[in-house]
Amino acid sequence: MKPLYLRSSSSFKRLLLSISHRSPPTTPSPTHDAAAVAGEEEEEAPPESPPLKKPTWRCFSYDEIERATGGFRETNLVGRGGSSEVYRGELPDGRAVAVKRLMGSSACERRERDFLAELGTVGHARHPNVCALLGCCVDRDLYLVFDFSHRGSVAANLHDEGSPAMGWAARRGIAVGTARGLEYLHKGCQRRIIHRDIKASNVLLTDDLQPQISDFGLAKWLPSEWTHRAIAPIEGTFGCLAPEYYTHGIVDEKTDVFAFGVFLLELITGRKPVDGSHRSLLSWARPLLADGKIDALVDPRLGESYDGEEARRVAFVAALCIRAPATWRPSMTESVWINTDGAGQVLELLEGGEIRQDQWAMPEADVVEEPWWFDDLEDEDEEEEFNTPSPSSSSSTTSN
Ligand SMILES: Nc1ncnc2c1ncn2[C@@H]1O[C@H](COP(=O)(O)OP(=O)(O)O)[C@@H](O)[C@H]1O
Ligand SMILES: [Mg+2]
Repeated sequence: MKPLYLRSSSSFKRLLLSISHRSPPTTPSPTHDAAAVAGEEEEEAPPESPPLKKPTWRCFSYDEIERATGGFRETNLVGRGGSSEVYRGELPDGRAVAVKRLMGSSACERRERDFLAELGTVGHARHPNVCALLGCCVDRDLYLVFDFSHRGSVAANLHDEGSPAMGWAARRGIAVGTARGLEYLHKGCQRRIIHRDIKASNVLLTDDLQPQISDFGLAKWLPSEWTHRAIAPIEGTFGCLAPEYYTHGIVDEKTDVFAFGVFLLELITGRKPVDGSHRSLLSWARPLLADGKIDALVDPRLGESYDGEEARRVAFVAALCIRAPATWRPSMTESVWINTDGAGQVLELLEGGEIRQDQWAMPEADVVEEPWWFDDLEDEDEEEEFNTPSPSSSSSTTSN
């Protein structure tokens, strides 16, 4: 098996060099990217087409990022995740940036792995719904530099009790934009990228409320000939993990589809994936979805101010995405249903495609007991991010 990331610090230079020799396309168009991957670019592009550009990100010196963040001033600290601190900064040309400092000791393998995962995945991505990487810095510590989001994450906006509730139109727009970003990661960019930690605090908002997927610390490449990977340890966010990932460490696009379903529920309900009393959003929402009680699902802070038809549609897509059998979840990118006319795509459904209930009915044989046992957090630990050894092997599996 080919390693997808390098472990030793001395490998950074090699990694940076190898990445900067690859050539992502210049436009954010998913079809353009896919053509480049398939090698169609050279055959079909007219002679006058501009040559493919090298990645637009660059290496920053420590002095540059220290100056930009005012010496990592406490007042510039805008976010703290499970493994990082994020500071607001400003470049000499006035551009606002977010500087993400990877936490942990310099010998910490996870720190390097997260850094390389993020650099090696989002460094290739160019899409309006994916947070743009501007560069990195490996002087003294490990830093990633991104465009700054003044609005912060969807979680910060959605769950902030002190601000007016986020309106329905914004929530629906965030659902559709995030689906576009995921579709691009799964199909549109150079190689299949599985994010593995889709959730509201990892989706940032632009000034005009466009969502941008961020935090690629757990992301994985998936070679095109592989059906999935089996990964250990299992990491991610409790309440957002697909059953096949939680139990066997199996990761593929459907891992993200499941988490996207939970994200849709977050948007509809305004609830967190796991609440203060350790009850999961999934276990609370499932019976309401099953009984079609959409009004009971919708965030009470919205009152009557939401489009019932749209809410039903988003809830319907969420219910499909959180299905226990991965094969019966829709795909972000293509129809999974044989003998139907292509109505299997998440984005299509969210954007108003015809919903035919009969197409989505699972055959009796495929209906499995919902995995209730992992929905609610039963221990005393408040921490929602976790990391546990996988019960399965860590080897990757190829399709035949
Ligand atoms: N580009 C950005 N602009 C503004 N805030 C950001 C940006 N990137 C991250 N943040 C803030 O920092 C938090 C942690 O960042 P994240 O990349 O998710 O780190 P972690 O891997 O530690 O979870 C986010 O939830 C968000 O609030
Ligand atoms: Mg995060």
